[in-house]
This record gives sequence, C-alpha cells and structure tokens, in this order.
Amino acid sequence: MSRTTTTERPPLTVPRADLTGGRIGSRIDLHTAVDSTNTTAFEASGAGAPDGTVIVADAQRAGRGRLGRSWNSPPGRNLYLSIVLGAPFPRQTVAALPFLAAVALRDAIRDLTGLDAATKWPNDVIINGRKVGGILVEARERGSQTTVAVVGIGVNVNWPRRSMPADLRPTATSIQTEQGRAVSRPRLLVTLLNRFDAGYERLRRQGSGPLLEDWSRTCITLGRRVTIESPSGIITATAVAVDPSGRLMIRRPDGSTTAVTADAVVRPAIGDLTAPTTRRSHALRH
Ligand code: BTN
Repeated sequence: MSRTTTTERPPLTVPRADLTGGRIGSRIDLHTAVDSTNTTAFEASGAGAPDGTVIVADAQRAGRGRLGRSWNSPPGRNLYLSIVLGAPFPRQTVAALPFLAAVALRDAIRDLTGLDAATKWPNDVIINGRKVGGILVEARERGSQTTVAVVGIGVNVNWPRRSMPADLRPTATSIQTEQGRAVSRPRLLVTLLNRFDAGYERLRRQGSGPLLEDWSRTCITLGRRVTIESPSGIITATAVAVDPSGRLMIRRPDGSTTAVTADAVVRPAIGDLTAPTTRRSHALRH
C-alpha cells in the first residue's frame, strides 16, 4: 500500500466561488505541469486571454527565478502561478508590480496562518529570515509601451525542509515548516488572488506611494548594512529606502546615496547584527 495518502497531499483545485475581485481570476487555467507558468501566461495572452487571467500549475519543468536562476517546482507541494495584466501601463505601475505581489503574498500568509511574513528587497517574502516566496515580473514592450505584463509568483507551501534540495535548505523555508502543519493550497491561492486584486485596484487609483510605504513597513532590508554585488563592483552601504521606481537607495559611509537596480545581488553585510532602527517612512515620497 502507498504511504502517501491523499489527505497528506490533496490535489490543487481552484475555489472560484471564493474570489471576490472583478479582474484577477476572471479566467483561471489550471495545469498539471508546464515548463513555466510565466511562459504559458505569455502564450495565453498572445492567444487572447483577458486582463486578469491566471495560469496555475501543480508543477513546473523549467520554473524560472530572477537573475537567470531556476525555481524548484516539485508537484503536490507548492503554488506556482502567473497573472496576466493587460497594458498600457504607466512605467511606474510596471515597476510597482513586484512590490504589489510581495505585499499580497505577505498578507495572504498572515491572513491564513498568523505567521509574521515579511518583505525583502527586491521581491522576496520571508518568514523567520528564510525565503518562502519569490516573484518574477516579466513584460513585453513595443517601442516605449508595455503591451503585457506577467506577474509570476512561487510559494513554498507544504514542502518540508528535509525534502528540499540541500543547497536550498539554509536559505529557504515553507509555510508548513514555519507553522508546523500543512496549509490548504486552494485557500492560499484564492486569498492571494483576492489580496492582489484589491492591491491592484488601489495601485491604479492611488499610484505606487501607499504600496511602497506598506511594503517598506515590513521590509527586512531597510535600515541594515548590506553588501551590493553588481557588474561595477562590490560595495558595503546602508539600505535606506526604495525610490518610486522600486530601486534600493543606499547610503555609503561618506554620506553619498546611490540607487541600486534589481539586477544587483544584495546581501546582509558580514557582521551586521543591528536591527533596523525604524521600518516606517522608508519609501521615498512621490
Ligand atoms: C525569484 O525569487 O527568483 C523569483 C521566483 C519566481 C518563481 C515563479 S513560480 C511561478 C512563475 N513561473 C516561473 O517560471 N517563475 C515564477
């Protein structure tokens, strides 16, 4: 008899009746496995899928992360989804999408579990210092116009740390690991989509200022000394804010400030044990 029972790993379903938003999830395609839900989302968009379409897969064969990394995507454990957003957008809206997704995921985890999920620049969601979710926003442009944006979200849900590849274990976690019990993937999916829908409407109405304030409130990067690795070299500085384009503002020891884009690798500086002094008002005013 198989030792894996269906109650341990229930199938991924979509509780459409629990969706509260008008846009996000107006169409949801659920797949057993795809290469990458972001790729499938662009294909669906090219074939006429409407604004707000969501592609969900139980597994990915070639899940993509930031900076050309891969995203581990085993079946039966986690959430992998991509949201199609129709354009045209103001440039700042596209730049705000990773922050919107991170805040939506942070809040969905808090809603369902009470865990103290936090944000980390540029687009990670963290619990107890370890990464539980990542976001990959990709956009297609024609000239200076964004024609479609795809917001890809990966969440480690019911994936015990002992089952993760060894190289992930020091830095990754899952909701199950942190909570001590499994969480319903369909419930997390619908809570996340509802949070994203509400946040997206607010972003369109109010711009990115309130969103970046909210994201900054729980950001573990701001107020800390960080080491930044970019093509132009390695520097150590203090992370002080995000600017309206989502760049990380850092202050060097000489007092000068510089903006860092999301293609840089930012790590806590060695020996930085200081807690951030304050987590309020770190987003630069618009
Ligand atoms: C990162 O932290 O590097 C971003 C990870 C993003 C992973 C998600 S899983 C769903 C979507 N499809 C992909 O191929 N990637 C994103």
